[in-house]
Amino acid sequence: MKRMDAEKRLAELRQILAEHAHRYYVLDDPLISDGEYDRLFQELLQIEEKYPDWVTPDSPSQRVGGAVLDKFEQVEHRIPMLSLENGFDDQDLRDFEERLLRYLRREEPLSYMAEPKLDGLAVELVYEEGVFVLGSTRGNGIVGEDITAQLKTVSSIPLRLQNSSISRLEVRGEVFMEHSGFAALNEQRAQEGEPLFANPRNAAAGSLRQLDPKITARRPLRFFVYGVSQPSLTGCTDQQKMFSFLADLGLPVNAHIRYCPDIETVIKRLAELTAMRHDLPYEIDGMVVKVNDFSLQERLGAKARAPRWAIACKFPAVQATTQIMSVEFQVGRTGAVTPVASLVPVDVGGVIVSRATLHNGEEIERKDLHLGDTVLIQRAGDVIPEIVKAVPEKRPAGAQVITMPERCPVCDHRLEKPEGEAVTRCPNPHCPAQRLRALVHFCSKSGLDIDGMGKKSVEQLFALKLIQDLPDVFLLQYEKLASLDGWGEKSAHKLLEALEDAKKPSLSRFLAALGIRYVGEVTAALLERTFKSLEQFIAASEADLLAIEGIGEQAARSIAEYNDDPSVQQMFARFREAGVHPQIAVQSEEKLPLSGEVLLFTGTLKLLSRNEAKKLVKENGGQITSGVTKKMTCLVAGEKAGSKLKKAEKLGKKILSEEEFLQMLKGEAAE
Ligand code: IVH
Repeated sequence: MKRMDAEKRLAELRQILAEHAHRYYVLDDPLISDGEYDRLFQELLQIEEKYPDWVTPDSPSQRVGGAVLDKFEQVEHRIPMLSLENGFDDQDLRDFEERLLRYLRREEPLSYMAEPKLDGLAVELVYEEGVFVLGSTRGNGIVGEDITAQLKTVSSIPLRLQNSSISRLEVRGEVFMEHSGFAALNEQRAQEGEPLFANPRNAAAGSLRQLDPKITARRPLRFFVYGVSQPSLTGCTDQQKMFSFLADLGLPVNAHIRYCPDIETVIKRLAELTAMRHDLPYEIDGMVVKVNDFSLQERLGAKARAPRWAIACKFPAVQATTQIMSVEFQVGRTGAVTPVASLVPVDVGGVIVSRATLHNGEEIERKDLHLGDTVLIQRAGDVIPEIVKAVPEKRPAGAQVITMPERCPVCDHRLEKPEGEAVTRCPNPHCPAQRLRALVHFCSKSGLDIDGMGKKSVEQLFALKLIQDLPDVFLLQYEKLASLDGWGEKSAHKLLEALEDAKKPSLSRFLAALGIRYVGEVTAALLERTFKSLEQFIAASEADLLAIEGIGEQAARSIAEYNDDPSVQQMFARFREAGVHPQIAVQSEEKLPLSGEVLLFTGTLKLLSRNEAKKLVKENGGQITSGVTKKMTCLVAGEKAGSKLKKAEKLGKKILSEEEFLQMLKGEAAE
């Protein structure tokens, strides 16, 4: 074939193959036989082999899985991937609507979309000029992992969208494995002596987390889309229209999604889905309900982790009965004492359960639990199994009621239970259990991720009093380590190297490692985005913290109290002396029009809703504050602006009209 003919034929083949793949994998309605498809595919491979320069990222040949990766790169989601609040029954759905109507100050009922809640893994797919360029896991919602090569092997994910006119579209959806594919995979693994996956969800997660995409390519993964990061870019006005829009682009949309004109229809749909749950070829663990209208979604906005306009109604959990053998009281990082029951091991929906949390003293009382009780336990998704209730008829004679201890099982300090709180705590900050837990967390994967400082090593070094407080970790010495039981020159050397690396963690990793109450990965990432150094973080007041979108009152108070504690200040000084210097990641926001700006909106806006305005600020690298503070750089004054405007004028702050604010977003400096 001549060069020009080959080029033309290659383009033609890509088009034909993409169309057939769409019919086969997305519409489940093939037009040609598998043999015919293979023949066309082989023809494409031959041309690409002859002209390797012509291979494009969206060619069907790119699905088979390319080079093996060293590791997964991190990807920051431009718009955070939120999670959902949970509900369980009809009443939760009615309460959900009531909350929405109250928030919207509205009386007419709302309409919704009801979608099966697929039990797989949330992913984001980025299409630029219609071509799939980046795929990532949800991760902690803010930062995920780049699994583009792995996702390209999923046949129902289009490598190119049909007729997309949007320059960059970020779609979100769920990758999952069907029951049949899961069974076949496990059967094959059994034959090969490989460990089996516990459920299709784990199998899907394990398959996507393969550094070698060729392995992923052999796993029967599927994908359904359920949303986009910025619906306003699609020109659609509601979720229902967006599903048609996404389907027209060639993306797979689940067939059991329904429009519901009111909440009672949603409730009926929940019953239908619950009934058909076990007849579907894949696992669903509930139904997701979303307010249909995008402008209402916009007005409703989101809380820290989940939007107000959606709820996940979970199906009842899998249950089993067993017996309580004994109870142990564990002291956590923050001093909370948690009762944990040892159970006679039992199979709950395919997983062997031998322990269950009893939560706290009030829960034990409420459920009237005794040692030796026969209990109903349940497992919901990945959550730690819990005891639903005791079966008193089966209680052995003379069984002892379970009670919370009065003294700490570790340091013997008197325990406290503050009025109105359910949790019993050991108030002794020097309690060895708390210190040890804090150290374990500090070194763990969710902390500084120090190689060689797993739970066992930390426990050993703690027992030997080589480490007692967090900064001690960085003062460990080679000679001491090398001479310890189970250690040698090599492991001591390796640990010191790992410690050297750990001295420059990102600020967010460092803050999450400290184990401050209410500061997990997500909050720590928000803090890093806001503060430009550890010193700035330490100096932040409760009001500064509260001004950060996504940080609530409890977290703000807890952080402020933490930073005010003199022993914490001393600890920070010891970290500095040990050479620990948290780093700020260079953020792309630096280049954005509102980088470094802290804005406050006041008065009535004419063009934007408050939520839209806030979103624009965040998307353009700025921050929002709720009061006229020193930190505030700029006030956007709408109509009827009052005292805040006066105060800002007095302080000589930059003041913009709504129009000037919009101009600023275009990168035009306002005077
Ligand atoms: S919407 C802001 N729709 O459920 C909206 N999620 O608990 C966030 N999921 O992380 C998600 N099916 O992995 C949405 N039809 C659906 C879904 C769905 C499954 C998962 C998703 C998400 C989790 C939230």
